[in-house]
Amino acid sequence: MAHRVHNFSAGPAALPLSVLEKAREEMTDYRGSGMSVMEMSHRSDLYMEIIGNAESLLRSLMNIPENYKVLFLQGGASLQFHAIPRNLITDPNQTIDLIHTGVWSKKALQNAELLCTVNVAASSEDRGFCYIPEQGDWRLSRNPAYIHITTNNTIYGTEYAVIPETGEVPLVADASSNILSKPMDVSKFGILYAGAQKNLGPSGVTLVIVREDLLGRNSDLPPMLDYRLQAEKGSMFNTPPTYGIYLLGLVLEWVRDHGGV
Ligand SMILES: Cc1ncc(COP(=O)(O)O)c(C=O)c1O
Repeated sequence: MAHRVHNFSAGPAALPLSVLEKAREEMTDYRGSGMSVMEMSHRSDLYMEIIGNAESLLRSLMNIPENYKVLFLQGGASLQFHAIPRNLITDPNQTIDLIHTGVWSKKALQNAELLCTVNVAASSEDRGFCYIPEQGDWRLSRNPAYIHITTNNTIYGTEYAVIPETGEVPLVADASSNILSKPMDVSKFGILYAGAQKNLGPSGVTLVIVREDLLGRNSDLPPMLDYRLQAEKGSMFNTPPTYGIYLLGLVLEWVRDHGGV
């Protein structure tokens, strides 16, 4: 038995040993193909099966409704702090509401501020981010383009026990550090996003689950940031992080085989 230690730190986290062993087994010859997943064309039938399998496993584990696209992107959750307002804001006079609960919501705020007005509708900064503000205390703006929350605050350890209901206003959530840790009703979100490295697989893959009606709001985007284009291309506008997506698929198989989310 290999000597294994458990890394509880932020950043890349422990992966199931059986996942790593399976990856080792398939490292140089993926299922008789004569190559590593790292070496195969991302457009080959074999790779299309790998990415398709990862998506369908995620859809079934998270019960993702049909009107949502699943994107496997790059740049980490940090790039989404910029990509989300870029996709959803069409006019710099628009406002978004943000619930400020820690370091990561601050980064979402700073990125959004470059593109629009950000109303901090509630904050737990007054007590060192030791709590999640009650939804009843939110001071929302009149017509926000969306409301942003961080479902779990890495560093502070606070987590939404209940996902807020935001009615017609899209709820956008950074779930980097609690995705798949418990069932989440995806239909409550406009966008749910997460860097993969804590709960889903290795760093280098970023998951974005986006409701279809939010695609194409802004047509003036660099292609790599354009969710509509990425959805049309099946996350393959350019070369996706092929090996990371393969490992993510193995993690999802492991989750499924251990009873689900
Ligand atoms: C809640 C949360 N959001 C965003 C990030 C940044 O993620 P990335 O490193 O994938 O950009 C982290 C990283 O720790 C995080 O915990």
